[in-house]
This record gives sequence, C-alpha cells and structure tokens, in this order.
Amino acid sequence: MSADIGLIGLAVMGENLVLNMEKNGFVVAVFNRTLSKVDDFVNGRAKGLKVIGTHSLEEFVSKLKKPRRVMVMVRAGDAVDKIIEMLLPLLSKGDIIIDGGNSYFEDTTRRTKELEAKGMMFVGAGVSGGEEGALNGPSIMPGGTKGAWKEIGPIFQAIAAKVKEGVPCCEWVGDGGAGHYVKMVHNGHEYSCCQAIAEAYWVMKEGLGMSNEEMSGVFSEWNLGKLESYLIEITAQILSKKDEQGTYVIDYILDKAGQKGTGKWTVMSALELGVPVTLVSEAVFARCLSYQKEDRVFASNIFTGPREPFKVDQKQFLNDLHDSLYASFLVSCAQCFVLMGAAGSRYKWDIDYAAVAHMWRGGCIIRSSYLENIFQAFQLNPALSNLMFDHFFSSEIQKCSPGWRRVVAATSKSGVAIPVISSGLSYYDGLRAASGPANLIQAQRDYFGAHTYERLDRNAGQYFHTDWTGHGGSTHSQAYNI
Ligand code: ATR
Repeated sequence: MSADIGLIGLAVMGENLVLNMEKNGFVVAVFNRTLSKVDDFVNGRAKGLKVIGTHSLEEFVSKLKKPRRVMVMVRAGDAVDKIIEMLLPLLSKGDIIIDGGNSYFEDTTRRTKELEAKGMMFVGAGVSGGEEGALNGPSIMPGGTKGAWKEIGPIFQAIAAKVKEGVPCCEWVGDGGAGHYVKMVHNGHEYSCCQAIAEAYWVMKEGLGMSNEEMSGVFSEWNLGKLESYLIEITAQILSKKDEQGTYVIDYILDKAGQKGTGKWTVMSALELGVPVTLVSEAVFARCLSYQKEDRVFASNIFTGPREPFKVDQKQFLNDLHDSLYASFLVSCAQCFVLMGAAGSRYKWDIDYAAVAHMWRGGCIIRSSYLENIFQAFQLNPALSNLMFDHFFSSEIQKCSPGWRRVVAATSKSGVAIPVISSGLSYYDGLRAASGPANLIQAQRDYFGAHTYERLDRNAGQYFHTDWTGHGGSTHSQAYNI
C-alpha cells in the first residue's frame, strides 16, 4: 500500500488532519520526531485505518506516491527549516512540501524561493478550525508554488469544511507567503472578535450586573441573528459551563490572556504597509495589558473612580450592545481586507478576496454569517477598496451607529474599558470625516522640523514652508512619507 500523502508532526492538529484525510479515502503515511507517538497513533486512534506508521524519514518518503506530497505540521520556526533540510536529500524534483503550521509569511516566501530553486514545490497552508475543524473540516488557505495546487487541491478540498452547496473552504490564495499571510490576518481578526466579545461580556457583567446564565442567554439569542458565528456560539456555552462542584468555570479563570504571535504579526505588517487595523492592534494591546496583572491590581488602588453600574434601560442597552459588537466585527473585517489588499499589491499576489471570504465562511474560528455578505460584496466589485463602501456594510454600520455611540458614552462615563468597540467607532468617525485635524499636525511638523505641507488651494505635490517664528530661515527638509 503506498500513500497519497504523508504527514510529519503528530500533535493534535496533525493527528486530526490525518484522520480527516483517511476518512475521505486517502492513504496517509505518518512520521513524528518522537517515534513512540507514531506507534501510539497507529495502534490507537488510527488502528485499522489506512494509515502507515514509519520510523525514519527514509521509510516515510519510500511509502509516498510520486510526486510526493509531504505535509509538515510541526512547531513554526526553526523546526520547519530543520525538517525541510532533512527531507531535501530524500526527495526528487517535482515533489511537494506543505507547511501547515502557523509560519510567518516572510519565512514561507523565503522557503518557496529556496525550494523552487532546487526544482521542488513548496506550499505554505494556513489551517484554521482548531482540533475539531482539523478532524471534521477545517478552513485551509494554501499559497506558494502554483504548480502544486493541481496535485494537492483534490485532497485539501476534500477534507476542508463546505459551505452552501458544497463549496469547499479552501482555494488557492497566491504566490509565496500569500496563504500564510491570509491565515495571519484571519487570526488578527479573530483577536478583534474575541476582545470585542470579551468587552461586551464585561459591560453586561460590570455595567448591567447580569449573571452568567443571563449573559449566556443573551449570547445564545444573538447567535440566532446577524451575529451568528462560532465565537458567539462558544461564548454562550462557556458562560454557562459549571464544574463538578457546580461552580461556573469562567469565574475562576485568571484574567491574563496569552498570545502566540499572529495578532502581533498582523499589526506589524499593518504598520509596515501603513494600513489602519486599529481593532486588531487594540486587541493585541488589550492582551498585553491583561498580562500586567500586578500593575493593574496596584493601579486599581490608586485610581479609584468612577466605577458604577449603568443607569440605563437594560433591554434597550442590550440592543445597543448588540449593535456595537456587530459594527465592531464589520469594521475589523473591513480593515483586515484593506490590509490584505495592500499586501496583495506590495507582494504582487493575485488574491481573490471573494474566495477568501468563502474560505473564512466555514470551518475556521472566525466563521460567521456576515462573511457571506463579504463574499457577495467582492463578487459584485472585485476591486472594492474598502468593504465599508459596499452598500450592505455602509447601511448596516450606519444603522448600528446610534446604539454604538450610546454604549461608548455609557462605558466611558462609568469607567468600563472597551478598547476595541470604542476604537472601531473612532475609525468610523475618522473615515467619514472629509476634513480632519491633520492640517494642524502638518503645521506642527513644519514649525519644529521644516517638514513642509501641501495647500488646499494649490495642486497636490507642491510643498510649502512657513517661517513660523520669523527667524527660522527658508531652509526646509525634503517631503516624503514612509
Ligand atoms: P503543541 O502543538 O502540542 O504545542 P509542539 O511542541 O508545538 O506541540 O509540537 C508539535 C509537533 O512539532 C510535534 O509533533 C513535535 O514533535 P515531538 O512529538 O517529537 O515533540 C514537532 N516538533 C517540534 N519541534 C520539532 C523539531 N525541531 N523537529 C521535528 N519535530 C518537531
């Protein structure tokens, strides 16, 4: 029996992907650095299945049909380079290595070039959906050597989640690191959504004094409407979960959020490309602040007020909170698509944004019903520069804005921090302001550094300098933007 594909790295995601492939009719060879895990797997979860356990990379490679397809599911970073290095002498021209971990997209671009120079093909595939998704249908975002797609596409599309009438949540994304880039931005948006939901929870708990069961009920109800999404669904379940002693689990979890880097990478790339992804960055920094628990405990004794329940009509306020959360989801998603557009132009990736919306519609952590509207927006206008200009988005956000403002006002008055929800509103107000205060920034820059400015009454590209103090002289620095 020879294998259609091989997988290296039998941690939980790797194992579940193997079982998913096998369930879909593919024979899979497996290898893991710690060999006992191979035996445990083939004699345990994979017992009786078309899974071939191997005890060396030589044996692993010898079991694969040509062109060989090797999926690597190991820890991102050096481990991926090490595995590639060890595989290279064993593989032939035309073989394919697929990195399914959360690798940094620049690493994927480099590896693609290095392997292509050796006549091989490399694919960086973002895989989302957690362990459950890996087993039953993840969202897969592959990019790299285009020629690999016809060889791996049938396997990936078979194991991926499906939306509508069987559309797989897996399409070719683009060259080099495009697949891992899209996965990185997916995770960035996930940071915004998790944080915005956590803020809504905190507003209900601190501001409205609601119980866990009541909050769980609200999230369950929201999940039946426009907010329908995996993260809202699991939040409802989390809030009502009790342990054996009958205590709510949520109440004893330490309030320090961890992170593995994809949110930070999204913000780093946004800064590099000059695209405001303000909700993701607030979400990343909110996790950083959550981590400074000792400082927060200390500060809570110095800065005491205000900290009072809201004086609002609860039913009306919950509607407003719903609208704030929904608007924040939409704005974060719009910002993320603008970012991917900028990256696509910078790195010359021909990304199909409607296909990205479909890849995110099912299987993955950010799956939600509004992604169908994003798909439709890009189908209607593939060159859409900002989703906020699509009719669906603009009308939904405008409808949400009165409630959104009431939530930001009430929380600010009562001292409850909602950095993602409030920065979403600031972005919206900043975007819809044809005139803003940046004239003053330009004046300050010209005052202290002779950085020059353009004028409203002259053509763009002409730069002026004012001698603000009367003794600054006429020398000015060159105008340029990073
Ligand atoms: P987890 O995903 O549970 O956090 P991990 O430590 O990140 O686990 O490792 C995931 C997979 O990467 C494992 O299969 C691991 O192999 P071991 O079972 O032998 O630990 C694999 N892995 C990590 N570093 C590796 C390396 N340098 N070379 C080969 N495989 C490696």
